[in-house]
Amino acid sequence: MNSSRAVAVMASGRGSNLKVILDAVANGDCPVDVRLVISDRADAQALDIARAAGVPEVAYLNPKDFEDRARFDAACADLIDRHGCQWIVLAGYMRILSAFFVRRFPGRIINIHPAILPAFPGAHAVEDALAYGVKVSGCTVHLVDEVLDGGPILAQAVVPVQDDDTRDSLHARIQVEEHRIYPATLRRMVECGFSIVGRTVVWQQQPTD
Ligand code: GRF
Repeated sequence: MNSSRAVAVMASGRGSNLKVILDAVANGDCPVDVRLVISDRADAQALDIARAAGVPEVAYLNPKDFEDRARFDAACADLIDRHGCQWIVLAGYMRILSAFFVRRFPGRIINIHPAILPAFPGAHAVEDALAYGVKVSGCTVHLVDEVLDGGPILAQAVVPVQDDDTRDSLHARIQVEEHRIYPATLRRMVECGFSIVGRTVVWQQQPTD
């Protein structure tokens, strides 16, 4: 597979989005090459999921081993470059990336967020949406820039909010949509490509190769 389809995934937790991406790759539904998975947490289930799927390099980097965030991010970036990864997929990665990291990979980092951006950015999106009393929420796949949860939007999916929803019940309904749109968006990115007009992502119609 050519290197324009080489992917690094960064994940801190349960790794269900990583798993659906790896499953889609294995089933032939997502034509990318996941070469590297990085986690900042030793206990991340994402590490076990990556190892079980046979990802060539599965790396745990302990932030405490680095003097500061910039040095930690530089070590991650070097690893990503060493593996020739074109795309960096954040899948529940709970650290804010430094501006240095984001600038090193312009337009090449994507994230999934459990709300319809620009509503409810930040680490407590599901709780914030419930507390606000919205009747619909959902998820957003977006490019990462230097504004937290602020980059151009690649895809969104909406779910209804029910009166008796808890954080967990709403998050579970949102994750069903995350698991549908994240691999599908990755596939579209590598198969079709896109351009950015203003801050709007315009998908190309033709496959890139
Ligand atoms: C997802 O809800 C995603 O939107 C957010 O973090 C969560 C990660 O879930 N960024 P998982 O680890 O992929 O299960």
